Amino acid sequence: MSSPETQPTQHNGKLYIETVGCQMNMLDSELVVAALRQQQLELTDDMYEADTVLFNTCSVREHAEHKIYSQLGRLKFNKRKHPQQVIGVIGCMAQKDQELIFQKAPHVDLIVGTGQLGEIPRMITEARSTRSRAIAVSLGRKGASRDEVASSFESYDRLRDPEMRPSPYQAFVRIMTGCDKFCTYCVVPMTRGPEQSRPPSHIRTEVQTLARQGVKEVTLLGQTVNSYKVTENGKLYRLSDLLAFIHDVEGIERIKFVTNFPKDMTDDLLQAVRDLPKVCRYLHVPAQSGCDEMLKRMKRGYTVDDYREMMQRIRATMPKCAVSSDFIVGFCGETEESFQKSMDLIREFRFKNSFIFKYSPRPFTKANELWEDDIPEDVKRRRNNEMLDLQNEISEEDNAEFIGTTVEVLVEGPSKNDEKGKIENTDEHKRQLVGRTTCDRIVVFEGNPRLAGSLVEVDVLDCTQTTLIGSIVTGHRTHGLQLELPVIG
Ligand code: SAH
Ligand code: SF4
Ligand code: F3S
Repeated sequence: MSSPETQPTQHNGKLYIETVGCQMNMLDSELVVAALRQQQLELTDDMYEADTVLFNTCSVREHAEHKIYSQLGRLKFNKRKHPQQVIGVIGCMAQKDQELIFQKAPHVDLIVGTGQLGEIPRMITEARSTRSRAIAVSLGRKGASRDEVASSFESYDRLRDPEMRPSPYQAFVRIMTGCDKFCTYCVVPMTRGPEQSRPPSHIRTEVQTLARQGVKEVTLLGQTVNSYKVTENGKLYRLSDLLAFIHDVEGIERIKFVTNFPKDMTDDLLQAVRDLPKVCRYLHVPAQSGCDEMLKRMKRGYTVDDYREMMQRIRATMPKCAVSSDFIVGFCGETEESFQKSMDLIREFRFKNSFIFKYSPRPFTKANELWEDDIPEDVKRRRNNEMLDLQNEISEEDNAEFIGTTVEVLVEGPSKNDEKGKIENTDEHKRQLVGRTTCDRIVVFEGNPRLAGSLVEVDVLDCTQTTLIGSIVTGHRTHGLQLELPVIG
């Protein structure tokens, strides 16, 4: 096998990539595209015309997989017209389904799991020249020792290409891969392999690189990010230590981290969030359910009382810290009473927002092996909607508390509505901008697009369930960027 460095750049052409799933997948796609651009592949929005098509996939719910199979279905006939097109399925579904993908979609050329993403440039070149199919995946969790399985999931943390980020000022940084919690409903420990933390020196170097590229906000990623633990040069680093270790990187204004596991929300971490000014006052700590029986079945390792105790510690350390959650409705055996307990949990803790999912049975999981998926789809849907309504009501009430206050916002750029032309712009210096507060609330306001990447003060005038609506405070302060701006306000 030849290394990518020795390959001639023969497979330049057009690349179409589609990404579903979590932030981890978004980061993987960014890195894969950066590597392929080095080989002269150009991005295109046209799936049918592309020379190479990659689907970076998610297996967490069946729906996410269906979406990919439908897209593959659309490419089947197209490939008769364009037999040179190379189609690759990469990421979580590739690791989970492996050869099964070739059976279901014989026109697929490449299957590359989450632990083999570094192989993609070479595999595309070879597929193009040999016209043969190839597969690269990691070992299964039961097939070998933990260490062997772990080393088969190669960390993919390379080259950061500033042009490939959705925003020039924000970046994801992987601090760990995999998961060892094995919640009974969840496929992620199988698709991402054993939990492995990256050394702090590597993470700090990456954050420094990003800062030099103009990044102001980094979001540290891990499936259970607060379980981060690694010993380097004889010193043990937990997440609190890592936050302190990267805090002084010049140019970085904000540090966030997702997703937290309730049991690992230790006091040292809460104190670090409180004491380190760049760390955002925002914690995503999924509860999943408000019913002890369900939590036990899910093997989450805590009770509602444990979660309550954690919330009390969060509120005692940082009264204004925003907390958000995930919930699964319609898990095996969830009675109306169990569901109402989840609703009570939302009422009690008033999350900033919650991501709500209907239970989807997943192959290779304990829940799928042990229990019937016994809640009918229409009941799941109703519970999902009821929970969403409750959460939205709470989010709007809590957003309304901000009306009349001034918040600090990291400006991301023009809002989606502005970019879609839904907002009338008579003056190019006055566009609808969007940004977030330190507590992760979305804020829209009018301003000069050149403010993107700076921290500004915004007076909050109104709100919706999801958004604060405001007006920029004149005489704003800028960080890092020296701007000469017309007066806005
Ligand atoms: N590691 C994170 C998130 C993992 S996946 C965590 O532990 O919180 C994101 C969310 O998808 C989970 O929090 C859970 O709410 C949901 N999820 C996972 N498996 C699911 C399944 N089989 N059906 C429905 N939702 C699921
Ligand atoms: Fe899945 Fe649980 Fe791991 Fe989160 S902690 S990735 S829900 S197994
Ligand atoms: Fe999906 Fe894989 Fe993320 S299964 S949620 S893309 S880790």
